[in-house]
Amino acid sequence: MIENLPPGPKGNLIMGVMREFNRDTLGFIEQCRNYGDVVRTRFLYVHAYFLYNPADIETMLTTNARSYRKAQSLRSPFFHRLVGNGLVTSEGDFWRRQRRLAQPAFHRQRISSYGEIMVQYALRTLANWRDGEERDLSRDMTRLTLEIVVKTLFNSDVSKDADHVGQILSSLVKPFASQATLKWILDNRLPTPGHRRYFNAVSEIDRIVFRIIAERRASGYDEGDLLSMLLQAQDDDGTRMSDAQLRDEVMTLFLAGHETTALALSWSWYLLASHPEAEKKFHAELDEVLGGRTPAVSDMPNLKYTEMIAKETMRLYPPAYAVGREAIEDTEIGGYRVPKKTQLFAFQWVTHRDPRYFDDPAAFKPERWTSENSEQLPKYAYFPFGGGPRQCIGNYFAMMEIVLLLATIGQRFRFTLTDEKVDVLPVLSLRPKKGIKVVVNER
Ligand code: HEM
Repeated sequence: MIENLPPGPKGNLIMGVMREFNRDTLGFIEQCRNYGDVVRTRFLYVHAYFLYNPADIETMLTTNARSYRKAQSLRSPFFHRLVGNGLVTSEGDFWRRQRRLAQPAFHRQRISSYGEIMVQYALRTLANWRDGEERDLSRDMTRLTLEIVVKTLFNSDVSKDADHVGQILSSLVKPFASQATLKWILDNRLPTPGHRRYFNAVSEIDRIVFRIIAERRASGYDEGDLLSMLLQAQDDDGTRMSDAQLRDEVMTLFLAGHETTALALSWSWYLLASHPEAEKKFHAELDEVLGGRTPAVSDMPNLKYTEMIAKETMRLYPPAYAVGREAIEDTEIGGYRVPKKTQLFAFQWVTHRDPRYFDDPAAFKPERWTSENSEQLPKYAYFPFGGGPRQCIGNYFAMMEIVLLLATIGQRFRFTLTDEKVDVLPVLSLRPKKGIKVVVNER
């Protein structure tokens, strides 16, 4: 067994690097790369390694995935109350069974049937937009992707309730906004009014979700949505998911399935609005491929540049900017010892901007995603959807949604930023701090 531990910043005697991390999370994780490809840090009493080399990221996520489970940060009581034992948080044999049961619902063919819903919902949103008005695109995209995930999950239309459900969901995410502070750790243990509000809000969504499950079980219909697939899914021994398990999976898909996609779209609009050359090529492709026709799934193979925009946006602004694991046994990585219980993190935010893998890394260049260029990249230099057995189950759903919504919206509107400077807020995901404020222009 290798004995040496990786280098890294010592930080404060008690707090470790907590203060530096909280002051400027993205800056801190970037600077830590100067210590090497594997960097050791400490948050209070928790030891963490940061991984910067694609080969080591591959070891953690794929080759040696069995030595790890999800990071401790995912096991907070708050998060657990929300998503329970859903796909994102469950482990071991239980997770394997759930993944096997859920997988057919995400097959390409099944997902393709949702393309039309995505386009129709986008068109419905656009019908309310007026030339010259100011809008916050990040709000619009979140609402639109929420409506779409509810329709595809439940075959139910929440457009009237969407603001309400949206409000509840965003109030649910707030407690995670200040992770890794002492306050947060204490907050996890003390009952506060904020907690009560949070738990009440979760109960409210619970009631809605359990009602929908009960109605569907009673009607027995295959509505063609994800819930029907999950209800019908059967293990080899004939067992199906319980209501409680269905609720956890539905909640997980609710949460995992809309905000990340909304962020990818919001950042795409931001980058297009600030790169006129790319925007021009984007519009030219839409006009040429669609010729004024409403986009459909069958257009996707021809919307090559649009797809490159999506990929390049998720390189620069990966909605999931970190993935974390905990070692469940003593192991090693990159030539260093990893004691059991160490937390390991790989940062899409840093690796996607590493000059060793991307030339001119800060520049927005959709052109870099030609297939020849992509093939030359090390496998884990770009991993917006994670990788290995726990790879995002919704990656095809997300790519389809991003490309179809970019095409449907970009065909009719372009945007002018009202504030060129947009600050990034790394919470659970990578958000624009004050939204993406634009003036909407009809094309
Ligand atoms: C641009 C959009 C999206 C991004 C960037 C994204 C990113 C990710 C990442 C990085 C992981 C792996 C986390 C880890 O290994 O710890 C993940 C897992 C997951 N994602 Fe996504 N995701 C997106 C969209 C979606 C959508 C649309 C759905 C569902 C409709 C979804 C459902 C899930 C689920 C269920 C998991 C857990 C899978 C498992 O562990 O078996 N995601 N996602």
